[in-house]
Amino acid sequence: MKKIAVAGTGYVGLVAGVCFAEVGHDVTCVDVDEKKVKLMESGTSPIYEEGLEELMKKNNATGRLRYTTDYRAAYCQADVIFIGVGTPELPNGDANLSYIATVCRQIAESVEKDCLVVVKSTVPIGTNDKVEQFIRDFLVRDVKIEVASNPEFLAQGTAVRDTLHAARIIIGTQSKEAEQLLREVYEPFGLPIVAVKRRSAEMIKYACNDFLALKISYMNDIANLCELVGADIEDVAKGMSYDERIGSRFLNAGIGFGGSCFPKDTKALKYLAKQYGYELRTIEACVEVNTRQKTRLFEKAKSRMITFQDLKVAVLGLTFKAGTDDLREAPSSENIKLLLEQGAHIYAYDPVGVPRAKLEFPEGKLGRGEIHYVTTIEEALKEAAICFIFTEWQDIKELPAAEFKNKMRIPLVYDGRNLYDIEKMKEEEIEYYSIGR
Ligand code: UDX
Repeated sequence: MKKIAVAGTGYVGLVAGVCFAEVGHDVTCVDVDEKKVKLMESGTSPIYEEGLEELMKKNNATGRLRYTTDYRAAYCQADVIFIGVGTPELPNGDANLSYIATVCRQIAESVEKDCLVVVKSTVPIGTNDKVEQFIRDFLVRDVKIEVASNPEFLAQGTAVRDTLHAARIIIGTQSKEAEQLLREVYEPFGLPIVAVKRRSAEMIKYACNDFLALKISYMNDIANLCELVGADIEDVAKGMSYDERIGSRFLNAGIGFGGSCFPKDTKALKYLAKQYGYELRTIEACVEVNTRQKTRLFEKAKSRMITFQDLKVAVLGLTFKAGTDDLREAPSSENIKLLLEQGAHIYAYDPVGVPRAKLEFPEGKLGRGEIHYVTTIEEALKEAAICFIFTEWQDIKELPAAEFKNKMRIPLVYDGRNLYDIEKMKEEEIEYYSIGR
């Protein structure tokens, strides 16, 4: 078993660290935030992720999983150091590598023996070459450092399962020794391993995320056309899904993709291509379709209403998808901004996303409008003039259609997740708009 240090305890770093400990490695997770470290030591996860806390508690107790702000102690004797810090989007679409750079400096200062540095964060192709050079430039001891790429494919909400049962492990190395060491780290997982050169590994990550994003934008584009020609996107997707070359997943049309990956990684690859003088037309279209899709329902509603001023608007779901409390690039944000600009009084419900939503939209009067957060769907719907559904949470899915009619002042529903049966909504005399049908 290896001595592993993990830099960063976000979705990527923490989940990786916990799962490495679970399969038997000796793991120290490093974070700059003292409070977060204390929290994790007590077995509390700083992120909402099914099954994570149980594994943290279990492995904290075995002593195989530790947390610290003392990066020197964590890095000095590590066999392998994984970097899982964020690479957020810069205003020009490029990835911000400043957190990676900080960790590299700390690694260079701290390592006391040969070690493999593995970049899990999503980074533009070629970054790992620079990471390796950068660490070597700043090394203070005579040790051998190599850098490998090992992109992460977990999705939020299913992060633990996605890690322990990943479809494949991608290993990008420039030497057989580095490949072998990473194979040993992953051996206990018993998963298929694809070993390639470093730049190819970096590219695989973007190629996968952008392909999935493209798939969604394609379905949204087809959905919009379905509305015009009288076809139903749900039936169309079902018909497509039987073709194994297409596959049955990621065919859900809706309000556009959000989250911490697809929006960022599509823009980053587009930017990278441009740096090389290449126009990545497919991804440009994917981004464009997604931007338009996010506010499509709002535009539809706007063309029906004279005004939103002082109208009670129910918002069901705030997070970018179900199963996470993350609001990054959530389509709800875009729509809430527009509704507030139009003077709406929003009553928003989300089972877990409210605390984070309050940071972006503090409760009360905001500009021309107001936003209030409620703890039940019923409170949001009561006497509302219009309802928007932005996230496919189970309790929203399970809401009986009749509730819109019973609770709302006007039973007018704009559903960005196609949660309801059109015929049923008609029977209940609800004016219902969804995507692509
Ligand atoms: C994604 C990738 O799935 C994961 O492999 C990668 O490591 C990180 O990015 P994540 O952002 O957590 O994971 O969520 P995902 O489930 O992929 O959904 C992303 C967005 O696409 C969400 O807004 C979701 O609602 C949307 N989506 C997904 C659709 O609109 N339709 C679909 O069919 C699937």
